[in-house]
Amino acid sequence: MLTLNPWITAIEEEGAFAVLDKALALKARGAPVINLGIGQPDFPPPAHVLDAAARAARDGPHGYTSPVGIPPLREAVADHLNARYRIAVDPDQVVIVPGGKVTFYFACLLFGGPGAEILYPDPGFPPYRHAIGSGGATAVPYPIREERDFGFDADEILSLITPRTRLLMVNSPANPTGGVVAKGELERLVAGLADHPHVAVLSDEIYSHLVFEGADFASLTTFPEIADRLILLDGWSKTFAMTGWRLGYGVWPKPLVEHVRKLITVDHSCVNGVAQMAGLAALTGPMDEVRRMAEVFAERRTLVVDGLNRLPGVTCRMPGGAFYAFPNVKGTGMGSRDLARRLLDEVHVALVPGEGFGDNGRGFLRVSYAASTGEIEEALGRMAKFLAEHSQPVG
Ligand SMILES: Cc1ncc(COP(=O)(O)O)c(C=O)c1O
Repeated sequence: MLTLNPWITAIEEEGAFAVLDKALALKARGAPVINLGIGQPDFPPPAHVLDAAARAARDGPHGYTSPVGIPPLREAVADHLNARYRIAVDPDQVVIVPGGKVTFYFACLLFGGPGAEILYPDPGFPPYRHAIGSGGATAVPYPIREERDFGFDADEILSLITPRTRLLMVNSPANPTGGVVAKGELERLVAGLADHPHVAVLSDEIYSHLVFEGADFASLTTFPEIADRLILLDGWSKTFAMTGWRLGYGVWPKPLVEHVRKLITVDHSCVNGVAQMAGLAALTGPMDEVRRMAEVFAERRTLVVDGLNRLPGVTCRMPGGAFYAFPNVKGTGMGSRDLARRLLDEVHVALVPGEGFGDNGRGFLRVSYAASTGEIEEALGRMAKFLAEHSQPVG
């Protein structure tokens, strides 16, 4: 009998990937599946990024690079952030990693250990919870509230801090809700954190280039009060439509960088040179494509939210960012897991049930609008027909 590490056997597969697999299998059998389940832009990366990658594939770098990334890329990240937020990031704080996930995973290892507690959003990105478990800390959820347009209440978070809390994870704009935490709420959080100097903060801002008109987004990097204990997570996946390239970065307080560097040498040595050169071209080149993608997402957002609000038993808040809507389906009289399963099996629309993102996600679905306008309209039409036949409106 083989004995495995119990935290690994306890991991549930990320709902979005499970839905993707099932949707692909149905599609392979000829079903006309529309996938609103997966969280990745449906655009190619900008052309100048692809050109830079092709050059690098020929000319290098082909060997190991510095574990923390090639110096020009670390400089480009610092320059990009400093110009964008008028802050003072030093390139030495920047650590290049294979995808956005790695930064929070390493933070959970660094701040974990027996007795530690780490706070994370519920509903939230599912790997947060498992990364916390892998580092040996206890995962403590804090609620993300529909009535706050999927933001949090700073006082609620502060009330959950104990002497054992080591890290607070924040995500805005958020997966799965598209919620953006208002600047005033971040100000209240930062003010309250002054009483808890033992708590580090990880701000996952991977959707920061997808913030829509009217949303009151602020980066936590613009709060000097917590600069010495803030880890910023961002990357290329969502901004430049490069999810499969596996390229991300963290900005760490300087004293932590040497520890992250050690973890990298244990884990993956460095990010491949081709992806790093592509990332450099992305950050130093024109941003027109990034803006164009954000405009397309903004148009789809209205289409999706208006369409969802017309469905029987469904209500949907207008998300401030990312490319997700998080409709409340409690009024359909069907459980969200059951509804998502039936929508895929019976009308071939793939969506992710909200409970996969935490207990507070029960009764919601995640709709990714990284699909064409035509597909979105067709999916909404199929859902309308399905719900007209099967929903048992409550209340
Ligand atoms: C909130 C959030 N953080 C991080 C990531 C991970 O990004 P990457 O694909 O670059 O690892 C995702 C991806 O879906 C996400 O939604």
